[in-house]
Amino acid sequence: MLNGEGAVQTLPAAEVAPAAVHVLRAAGISLVVDLAGGMPRVLHWGADLGDVDERATKALRATSVPAVLNNSPDVPRVFSVWPTEQDGWAGTPAQAGHRGGTATTPRPRLVKADVESAHDGGGSIRLRFDDDVAGTRARLTYRLDAAGVLSVDLSVENPSDAASAYLVDGLRALVPLPDRAAELLDFTGKWCRERAPQRLPFSFGTHARRARRGKPGHDAPFLLVAGTPAFGFAHGELWGVHLAWSGDGEYLAERLPEGAGAQSRVIGAGELLRSGEVVLQPGERYDAPTVLFTWSDRGLDGLSARFHRRLRARRGHPRAPRPLVLNTWEAVYFDHDLERLVEIADRAAEVGVERIVLDDGWFRGRRDASAGLGDWLVDERVWPDGLGPFVAAVRDRGMQFGLWFEPEMISPDSDLARDHPDWVLAPGQGAGATARNQHVLDIANPDAYALVLERISALVAEYDIDYLKWDHNRDLVEPVALRDGGDRPLVHDQTLALYRLLDELRARHPRLEIETCSGGGGRVDLGILERTDRVWASDCNDPVERARIERWTRLLVPPELIGSHLGAHRSHTTSRETDLSFRLAVALTAHAGIETDLTVSSPDDLRTITAWAALYRELRELIHTGDVVNADLADDAAMLTGIVAPGGERALFTWTRLATSPDGQSGRVRFPGLDPRAHYRLRVRAELGATSRHEVSDPDWMRLAVDGGIELPGAVLAVAGVPLPTLNPQQALLFDVERLA
Ligand code: GLA
Repeated sequence: MLNGEGAVQTLPAAEVAPAAVHVLRAAGISLVVDLAGGMPRVLHWGADLGDVDERATKALRATSVPAVLNNSPDVPRVFSVWPTEQDGWAGTPAQAGHRGGTATTPRPRLVKADVESAHDGGGSIRLRFDDDVAGTRARLTYRLDAAGVLSVDLSVENPSDAASAYLVDGLRALVPLPDRAAELLDFTGKWCRERAPQRLPFSFGTHARRARRGKPGHDAPFLLVAGTPAFGFAHGELWGVHLAWSGDGEYLAERLPEGAGAQSRVIGAGELLRSGEVVLQPGERYDAPTVLFTWSDRGLDGLSARFHRRLRARRGHPRAPRPLVLNTWEAVYFDHDLERLVEIADRAAEVGVERIVLDDGWFRGRRDASAGLGDWLVDERVWPDGLGPFVAAVRDRGMQFGLWFEPEMISPDSDLARDHPDWVLAPGQGAGATARNQHVLDIANPDAYALVLERISALVAEYDIDYLKWDHNRDLVEPVALRDGGDRPLVHDQTLALYRLLDELRARHPRLEIETCSGGGGRVDLGILERTDRVWASDCNDPVERARIERWTRLLVPPELIGSHLGAHRSHTTSRETDLSFRLAVALTAHAGIETDLTVSSPDDLRTITAWAALYRELRELIHTGDVVNADLADDAAMLTGIVAPGGERALFTWTRLATSPDGQSGRVRFPGLDPRAHYRLRVRAELGATSRHEVSDPDWMRLAVDGGIELPGAVLAVAGVPLPTLNPQQALLFDVERLA
């Protein structure tokens, strides 16, 4: 059957139709899956093949059989949708598990296939398998969305009539790639330096990135990309994978000398399961987290465009203007004092803030970082009349109110730990070292879960809270707790409990927005973003670091979901000193906010911050709906980043210099994302204050751009490029670009 337009097909186990080839197409991508031969195979995933007819699909199948190599299995090797050793696959298998040391060689066979086409492009292929060797049943669903993002969901089930438990050691979504995917990009990092890119050749063997921190971590692989050599933001053919999961995870890029079926190499991901973490009793099922893949033939910006489009299409995606935020953390830390906070609220309202978030320090015993987590009751010693007076002050000034929580944590010095020492997620022998003075709370324990839910929910109701900042400040270490008479690994259950908690709170308080934070950006993934509205990309508000961190965070997450705040002149996390104009420029192009203490800002600075707030209100619709583009520059101390409105009628470009470089001139720089056939008016927005230069005068054409605006053809801006000013380090220039025709 071809294309399967709206059809649902059921195949009896013994008679998988030999002609069954299914094609899903969306947004310039085709996925072709062959159901013949017992185990389905991906014949093609990537560039759209057009309206393939039966002849073409037959030809794809006919050309999908690799050579039989010397000293090899005597039949051609197959790389199926569920790669196994039986098919000659010696790489990482899709499924690993056993029954008390037996049934270790899965041999799934297709028993049923359903195909659906979606109205807006794409569709799904749902496959079911039986396995007489592992004794399991399994499902695999490919869904291609209208943006061209392919989601893969796998599950394995121990049938109710099974005689024993089945232990799942791993379940991974793996897809084959062509030989030209020769280079890899993924990410690492640390606190205050999240999403640092690393590039490497796609060599033989397995490039495996494992997150064993109970969360993706500050060093999360984030997005593993394989591409044609020297791919960039605007060029190269790329295949990327992301694990939409907030617990332990594994990404891999694998290449064996014998290839992968007719293809050459493999990328994939799955949950990293600890030994004994998933034990399926008869009748139980393990659903692996969704793995997302996408492809682009126009570089990294093309991958981002697909992920952003997918996220923006979510039902719960925030559509109202994203309010300008003030977060109290770096202004007051734990020093909560009503009078001082009201003074901050006064300044905030004057400059145009629309939401104030009261950070850590408001709950019982929390005078510093050593105590209180878990006691989610307002500290009467600091707040004798509760939070009411402050909440009223915030609302009277026309702003929304948000509050900080760290629900999955527990301080040893807390009433919660004293009352329920067994709720600490730790071996029965006792917890190991604290991190940031805290342990992890076992929220997979229904009593602990219920208490946290009720405490948070009661406060949200009492103060009609608009917004939660949901923090998670330490790794999970030895994440086990007593279950069925022994210490069991619980990252999987803990992660699902987190998701339930978020879902339940949102169901109870439908207006509530939630920001996900984890010591800054230690838990940025599309699993948690299914149920939250913003990520705190980093604790680093130093704009030099922040510009890099956000550039790479935007690879997956659109700007409206990334919090970016104005920090202090001297950064609290790096001690670097930067101009106000530069800090404002960097904070503008995301979901903007303020972290610095406005009560010590000079009147001049407050005026500039007020002008910035107005500029943010003017541009936020563009920033929060536009396509993100990045110029490919040889000089990595400079960046040109743009956000282009969906219809192309307006764009905002930021020309940034992070450090000096030997290059005196930029040369002609192309403005990506603009239409070469259109005409544009380009002007420098000067509201944020002067940008200091490392030159005697700007390139001549800039005179008009600075002085009201200059008209330029798209062919000059987007194709030939224009020379840009040589800025001093830690400076940025904003270009407002309007299409004239
Ligand atoms: C984490 C967050 C910060 C702040 C502190 C409070 O580090 O990332 O923004 O909320 O916790 O303890």
